[in-house]
Amino acid sequence: MSQARSYLIRAAEPSDAAALHRIKTAPGVYPDTLQLPYQPLSVTEKQLREQPATVHNLVACAPAGEVVGWGGLVGNDRPRTRHAASLFLVVDEAWQGKGVGSALMAAIVDLADNWLGLIRVELKVVHDNQRAIALYEKFGFEHEGRMRQEQLRAGKLEDVLAMSRLNWPGRAQP
Ligand SMILES: CC(C)(COP(=O)(O)OP(=O)(O)OC[C@H]1O[C@@H](n2cnc3c(N)ncnc32)[C@H](O)[C@@H]1OP(=O)(O)O)[C@@H](O)C(=O)NCCC(=O)NCCS
Repeated sequence: MSQARSYLIRAAEPSDAAALHRIKTAPGVYPDTLQLPYQPLSVTEKQLREQPATVHNLVACAPAGEVVGWGGLVGNDRPRTRHAASLFLVVDEAWQGKGVGSALMAAIVDLADNWLGLIRVELKVVHDNQRAIALYEKFGFEHEGRMRQEQLRAGKLEDVLAMSRLNWPGRAQP
């Protein structure tokens, strides 16, 4: 467990399912992710009950103890891509812009670099999600490309940016 900017970061537990389900299906969250507005709680419960070894789910807790953010890494099983993982991140709509995402990113990057030995962490972000893009750039993610009309959002196909962060010995991080 680690503490950053007064948020406690810990592994997600099956008992967090209701809080995480509420966060990811909120109107200020799901449009900029690949989540759908209507999902049963049972999907999140199953996800947290059956966590594969390659998936690392972290939550951020506010000082009063409530879960206010969820992020992590989805790794790869296949031998030649085991050095890479995909990053995901969502913050409770009432807690956005208060450092929760930064606290989770610090923990995720530390996990990737210093405990999993990952070389590449990648992510996708909708082109106009300025807060997320600024956050990822702050943690050393670089732009790799633009996928045209990749994601349907509220009836409109939106471009999506690919970003990644490489970490290998001898390479200076931005
Ligand atoms: C994107 C998201 C995860 C960021 O988390 P957050 O807790 O709101 O982010 P933080 O408060 O830690 O701010 C991170 C950085 O974003 C930038 N930022 C903050 N508010 C911003 C704004 N209104 N516009 C642009 N950039 C902003 C700043 O660079 C900030 O870092 P700083 O405070 O050190 O300057 C969160 O807003 C969220 O869940 N959004 C909806 C779902 C989503 O978009 N998920 C990501 C999908 S790729």
